[in-house]
Amino acid sequence: MIATFYKLVKPLLFRLDAETAHRMVLGMLSAWPISEQAPAPPELATRTFGLDFANPVGLAAGMDKDALAAGAWQSLGFGFIELGTITPRPQPGNPRPRVWRLPEHRALINRLGFPSKGMERVARRIAENREQGLKVRVGINIGPNKDTPAEKVPDDYAALADTLGPLADFMVINLSSPNTPGLRAFQSPERLREIRRALDASAVRRAPLLVKLSPDIDAAEIGPLCDAIVELGFSGIVATNTTLARAEVGIKSDHEGGLSGLPLRERARAAIRTIRRRVGREFPVIGVGGIAGADDAYGHIRAGANLIELYTGLVFEGPALIASINRGLASLLRRDGFRSISEAVGADL
Ligand SMILES: Cc1cc2nc3c(=O)[nH]c(=O)nc-3n(C[C@H](O)[C@H](O)[C@H](O)COP(=O)(O)O)c2cc1C
Repeated sequence: MIATFYKLVKPLLFRLDAETAHRMVLGMLSAWPISEQAPAPPELATRTFGLDFANPVGLAAGMDKDALAAGAWQSLGFGFIELGTITPRPQPGNPRPRVWRLPEHRALINRLGFPSKGMERVARRIAENREQGLKVRVGINIGPNKDTPAEKVPDDYAALADTLGPLADFMVINLSSPNTPGLRAFQSPERLREIRRALDASAVRRAPLLVKLSPDIDAAEIGPLCDAIVELGFSGIVATNTTLARAEVGIKSDHEGGLSGLPLRERARAAIRTIRRRVGREFPVIGVGGIAGADDAYGHIRAGANLIELYTGLVFEGPALIASINRGLASLLRRDGFRSISEAVGADL
């Protein structure tokens, strides 16, 4: 039923500016009550960084930055959702227009620049959802305010972790948005150590902390960065954010910003593979980038992802995609003789 509904409304939505359409959909989904979690095939249940997940399919950050529609995401069948990016203080983000569709490539380009209602307001909303019985695993993705000077960025992360950590099943330190000037410079062992130090200065209970990386990190830098993430005691890596690459991924476009969707898929998968090889078999990796079906999700898992996430695929395929990926993954596991997701992680390496 959802599939038919989306087929009908998609042409109307696609006539609107991408961000306007997104806001309309979120507005509708925010009215969805917190109800039961859609069931998934039992062989998709998986455990990673100490948490049980009903299935490995998650909502990627950016779709629901202000935690407006958690109930809807739960009902649609996600095994987990990553809310955010949330900043400490409210901020408007970059001027519009700032999101574009590339329908012929099944891709998006965005330079939103972290529009956020700020951590206090979003924390209240998530707490309310929890009280109303939200059960789906919640990751909270955090980033600094645009006007925070570089030397204060670690303090922004610490404040965010203090306020939002108690509400999260896990947190994601976003170091990889291309739309906040200077942020990607924190993808270095030295800068990451500064963030870790700021986080450790507080005694507030912390959920597992993961680090989200860009697909554009130099080959020479990714290895030492992965080593630092492991050594500093982070709980996992989310790979990857959007890319600034264009020609390398077969895209010609004048829009500035991060590219997501199908053209990102192989670049993200290459990053997952590189990261998995470096961190060994056990360290948790969430694979994201260009997933638009069960085969794509399975490919990321076989390249080394314990869990996967998607955003752009949902825009083009609609919300029925979530259940369809779950069903497809179950049959791909059966076809290849795996009894669980965890057996398939990194099978291609
Ligand atoms: C419009 C838009 C906004 C995004 N905002 C965020 C964000 O706030 N924080 C973040 O970590 N990633 C953000 N992302 C990146 C996604 O979480 C994901 O890493 C990327 O889009 C690749 O996945 P996909 O190809 O399935 O979309 C955003 C992506 C899009 C398309």
